[in-house]
Amino acid sequence: MSEGKESSLLVYFEPGELIFAADEEGHHAYIIESGQVDIFVTTTGKDVSLKTLTQGDVFGEMAVIDASPRSASARALTETCCVVISRAQISDRIDASDPVVKLLVSRLLDHIRSLNTGVSQAARPTAPEISSEPSSPFLPHQPVLEKMRLESELLDAIATDAFIPHYQPLVDLETEEILGFEFLIRWKSPTRGWVSPGLFIDTAEETSLIRPIGQWVIENACADLNRFNQALSRSFVASGKPRTPLFISVNVSARQFQAPQFNQELLEILQRHQIPHSQIKLEVTERVLMEGASAINIIQQCRQLGFHLALDDFGTGFSSLTYLAKFEIDSLKIDQYFVRQMLTHPRTLALMKHILAMTQDLGMVSVAEGVETQQEFDILRRLGCQIGQGYLFGKPLPFESAKNLLLENYRRPSAPTGPLLSSNGIENSVPQQTGSRV
Ligand code: C2E
Ligand code: CMP
Ligand code: CA
Ligand code: CA
Repeated sequence: MSEGKESSLLVYFEPGELIFAADEEGHHAYIIESGQVDIFVTTTGKDVSLKTLTQGDVFGEMAVIDASPRSASARALTETCCVVISRAQISDRIDASDPVVKLLVSRLLDHIRSLNTGVSQAARPTAPEISSEPSSPFLPHQPVLEKMRLESELLDAIATDAFIPHYQPLVDLETEEILGFEFLIRWKSPTRGWVSPGLFIDTAEETSLIRPIGQWVIENACADLNRFNQALSRSFVASGKPRTPLFISVNVSARQFQAPQFNQELLEILQRHQIPHSQIKLEVTERVLMEGASAINIIQQCRQLGFHLALDDFGTGFSSLTYLAKFEIDSLKIDQYFVRQMLTHPRTLALMKHILAMTQDLGMVSVAEGVETQQEFDILRRLGCQIGQGYLFGKPLPFESAKNLLLENYRRPSAPTGPLLSSNGIENSVPQQTGSRV
């Protein structure tokens, strides 16, 4: 350290002593313990004071934050004592901060530097130049700006109801009956066109935007479940054919579970739409289970309230078996990677067999994701997988198309394995014929 007479923590300056000069490299910031410091720029040989700082003020932080030269000079006006702040103390915190905060700080620093340059060039006054690209090299600007833009657009999408529910069928591999749908959100953006959730759910999860979006999802899932059921009821009245009550699965992220009011809001929405709890399934990934005790408590509560819990993307994360031992999970959704690989990789096929056997032993329902071909369907059925989801049965569809697919599937001849319930809950055991593909 070259600035002042130092102890390890405190540094002392005489009245009139220059602490540092503009454009020098800066390694420390200072907190004034006692005394006064003048921050100034020099123009045509004259010092122009920018600010006089006193006890408790911080200075010299700018050069340390982004490793740029000192933006002004500092001089002790009286006998002054300062606490020294090291670069590491500041840079560790800056590195750990949100990229948006970093970007905003960077913009502020550039702005102050431009203003100071404007003051020091007062002899030939021109408007301080503010470049469109921040000059400091310590931030990747474009991805951060893009994320901020996306966040603003998502806020607008929530306000203008620009999300469209899509439904992908979940099919009983034995009877080929559509048992339910997974709710998959789509965003129709005025500037980007159709946007798939892969492009915005992560950003929504990083901010609190996932909460209003999640509420919208559950609200729509409930309203549409009633509309699906009404359509089925009309068909039931016409045909008298029974069916199991339809369910809708919704994806719930860790951040949603962390909100203390999540359970209450969920219950309110279901009550408003008069949906039995067992007809809404909550799909969670391992990440939710890893998020600590509060999320786990909420999951347990959801389970106690009668919601069905599905562990999504099984096999892609840590796939820790302790989760399966610890939590009462109703179904296991085996990731499409396994379905894709099992035809060509005997080891994956062996794993698939064991996962399905384990699922059965634990009394869980097995769901295979991403079923695209007849061959995959045949193997999964042979291995005893209960439910399939994938393009073979139907892509994620808007409500009307999903409803038509459901009615077509309902009306076709099928082979149920036992007494079934009609969509409106009336018990019925009319014998059925063997069915064809969804
Ligand atoms: P996910 O929950 O694993 O959903 C399954 C994804 O696989 C969907 O992608 C679906 O379109 C796709 N898929 C289904 N069958 C097939 C197939 O046969 N082949 C192939 N190649 N893909 C198939 P999508 O709709 O793009 O959703 C991506 C992810 O975004 C979802 O993965 C889920 O994690 C998240 N997501 C979607 N909707 C929501 C939502 O409403 N809330 C939350 N929190 N996350 C959502
Ligand atoms: P730094 O650029 O490291 O060194 C000069 C310091 O003066 C700077 O950090 C800030 O702490 C402070 N500073 C710079 N410009 C101004 C200003 N316009 N007003 C008040 N303080 C300033
Ligand atoms: Ca899912
Ligand atoms: Ca999945």
